[in-house]
Amino acid sequence: MNHAAVIGTGSCLPKRIVSNRDLEQIVDTSDEWITSRTGIKTRRIAGAGEENFHLAAEAARQALEMADVPAQALDLILVATITPHMIMPSCACFVQAEIGAEKAFAFDINAACSGFLYGLDLADKYISTNPDMKILLIGSETLSARVDWQDRNTCILFGDGAGAVVVSGSTNRGIRASNLYSDGRLWNLLYMNSADSMNPELQQEQEGCYMQMSGPDVFKFAVRSMEDSIRRLLHRENLSIDDLALVIPHQANVRILNKLSERLSIPEDKMFINVDRYGNTSAASIPIALDEVNRKNGLHKDDMILLCSFGGGFTWGALLMQW
Ligand code: COA
Repeated sequence: MNHAAVIGTGSCLPKRIVSNRDLEQIVDTSDEWITSRTGIKTRRIAGAGEENFHLAAEAARQALEMADVPAQALDLILVATITPHMIMPSCACFVQAEIGAEKAFAFDINAACSGFLYGLDLADKYISTNPDMKILLIGSETLSARVDWQDRNTCILFGDGAGAVVVSGSTNRGIRASNLYSDGRLWNLLYMNSADSMNPELQQEQEGCYMQMSGPDVFKFAVRSMEDSIRRLLHRENLSIDDLALVIPHQANVRILNKLSERLSIPEDKMFINVDRYGNTSAASIPIALDEVNRKNGLHKDDMILLCSFGGGFTWGALLMQW
């Protein structure tokens, strides 16, 4: 049986670094409050020439170079994003044009912060029926365009960036198992409205098309749901935390990750954290982290890596892959 195995990683962060002190000039907050509640110190914010698809394409170029796969050899481009440049065409189609991947078909995935995990699972399913496929999967966001910069509850949390992987079929490494969930009944705890409808009969009362969030509810559900999905996945695969080389979680908040480590007894050196530098980059956070670890030679052959995520929808889950 063939599985999707990562053969190249890449990432791209906007140039501009915005610190907590910079945010003190914009909203009523403090470096001390943000650091103690979230662990975030800085985030990257996109500027001119750094649209979502620009970041995504640059991350893709790096991943393709590492994989030694020309863009023309790609069969499929998937972009996990909730902040596409346009509603139509997809961000994936913009990336296809940017990198010149004429042979590929391309589409976006919207599963909020869990989009990259959902995308890996999907890539694995394609590979299982067509092992020769070369798939480019990107998580890419410009959330700075969709947060209300006057709302201190949300604007301090998020950042922009992109991460990418190239996957192809392998019989002895790659994705081993996944465990994904959604619960649409809880949509109103974390959501982003779309623009006003042009159809008067479909117009709704809106509070602007910005990120809306019930922070404490999201916090509790994130910890419980990720813990549950990890426990179930490890149990099903007959593995324990000791069998894992590294956990790369969605980077939302250091306190969420500390709680998760505490409940599952994950040693500090097995939990990868970079949210302090980049904030929450939604679907991009896991592939950015994966590329960072990979480029520091932090992953070794046969390492068992656990990815886990939580996001709007709600969507959540865990995925195991052998490096
Ligand atoms: N600076 C200073 N004070 C702030 C603030 C900020 N940036 N944001 C909120 N506050 C205030 C609130 O207004 C509130 O004041 P009040 O008590 O006078 O009403 C107080 O801080 C406490 O707010 P609360 O929301 O209870 O804080 P918290 O400890 O729950 O932390 C979050 C808030 C958002 C950091 C936390 O709930 C969280 O991380 N939630 C998960 C968010 C997340 O990860 N979302 C994405 C998931 S993919």
